[in-house]
Amino acid sequence: MFNASSENPLLAGTNTANDPQPCILVIFGGGGDLTRRKLLPAVYNQALEGELPANFAVLGLALEEMNDDDYREFARKGIEKHSRQPLDQAYWPDFEKRLHYLQGSFDDPDIYAQLKQRLDEIDKTFGIPGNRIFYLAIPPGLIETCVSNINHAGLVMPVDETSPFTRIIVEKPIGKDLESARDVNATLSKNFDEQQIYRIDHYLGKETVQNILAMRFGNAIFEPLWNSRYIDHVQITVAESEGVGTRAGYYDGAGALRDMIQNHILQLLTLIAMEPPWSMDADVMRDHRQNVLNCLSPISRKDFNSHVVRAQYGPGFQHGEDVPGYRRETGVSQHSTTETYVAIKLFIDNWRWSSVPFYIRTGKRMPKRASEIAIQFKSVPPILFNANQEKPLEPNVLALSIQPNEGLSLRIGTKLPGNKLRIYPVKMDFLYGSTFGEQSPEAYERLLLDVMAGDATLFMRRDSVESSWVWIDNILDIWANSSSRWIPEYNAGTWGPLEADRLIETDNRKWRLL
Ligand code: BG6
Repeated sequence: MFNASSENPLLAGTNTANDPQPCILVIFGGGGDLTRRKLLPAVYNQALEGELPANFAVLGLALEEMNDDDYREFARKGIEKHSRQPLDQAYWPDFEKRLHYLQGSFDDPDIYAQLKQRLDEIDKTFGIPGNRIFYLAIPPGLIETCVSNINHAGLVMPVDETSPFTRIIVEKPIGKDLESARDVNATLSKNFDEQQIYRIDHYLGKETVQNILAMRFGNAIFEPLWNSRYIDHVQITVAESEGVGTRAGYYDGAGALRDMIQNHILQLLTLIAMEPPWSMDADVMRDHRQNVLNCLSPISRKDFNSHVVRAQYGPGFQHGEDVPGYRRETGVSQHSTTETYVAIKLFIDNWRWSSVPFYIRTGKRMPKRASEIAIQFKSVPPILFNANQEKPLEPNVLALSIQPNEGLSLRIGTKLPGNKLRIYPVKMDFLYGSTFGEQSPEAYERLLLDVMAGDATLFMRRDSVESSWVWIDNILDIWANSSSRWIPEYNAGTWGPLEADRLIETDNRKWRLL
């Protein structure tokens, strides 16, 4: 069993995090899917593990007809089904008394007056000094209404030493293009200070994603090789086995480029490609990530077809069952050309990454759920063991597995036992689960704690959201102006269309088998 206590002599590093502060978490959309599956289980796990301050409470606000008791039951069911830790009957009474509910419509100003009153009462009951976190788990069209009503009701405190804190968490999507993202950001800025705004990208809260920084900057052996001199290319894959599920209403208007690449995958890319930051300060880290986005090379019309592939899943076979094609899913238009798969070859125009291709891909209805970042190093010179170019040596690959089996592996060539001198590729593996024993906290757990502690490092700043859209809009524009409405199909349960294989194979490289 791994000993994580501070007595373990090998445990090192700076814990820069502040402690989470007493507060009320107010969830707009408190009766929705995200709240039930992710937010309430996250709060529960952290409370159970003693990570939350003793004085905290939750208030869900939504249209569904419920009272506090119904809400506690709603939370219990969600936690029983989706929590990392099983529900602890002995602890439950202490937890559930902290859950509250207010029913109402977000555009009704009276509801905000009632909200203020409820929050004051809860503050008194739990000894909370007026600190509030507003979590917007709502469709983007409602952001403006909620944000301006929160402000008009006098619920936003100034940012100073003496006032209690007010923070707002905004879920993606932040806009559907640059212009709409700017509108959302302008609405937020009109009502909140940038320091109070936490734009969440849950990929940044995943344990292995944070480990990218620990690995790069907590070890001496990687950073000297981390550049175009030694790295041949990088692959980032986020594959999902699920289809669109019940989210067609949102997804059919979004597609994989907006849903996964604009945020999650570009954020992963920034962590891999950023220069070493000189401090863990939130803005220093975010400046460094931002610099990567500033250097993304726009994809020109001339290069477009060899750099960007989109596709949609057709009918197929998965996990032993026939599954319908995307256009047959509930809520999807029969003529939809929305992409459920995207592969892109991109470049980062700076000194470190000049000419190193980054191949990124994401898709729904892939054969399995698997997300990985792979750094492939250059081949050794074609002499000695690599003299036979008919059978070249496999290059070294450092693969960071983000999910489901969190860990990292390094592929190296080693001598095959026997009289002959032959080289065989083997993997040096590290798996979180087998080394540390415990399940890692879910991304939302970590991120909610960070907001309670006032640490915005793992959240997206306004400039990063907008720069990502600049790069994405260029692709969207080319798609929108293309004369063809045709979109390639791949069978559900496969690794995407042939066009995506061609995208990488014309460079004499291959997608990794996951
Ligand atoms: C969400 C996307 O942001 O991330 C979904 O909207 C996607 O379409 C999900 O399924 C993937 O998250 P995870 O953590 O399950 O990889």
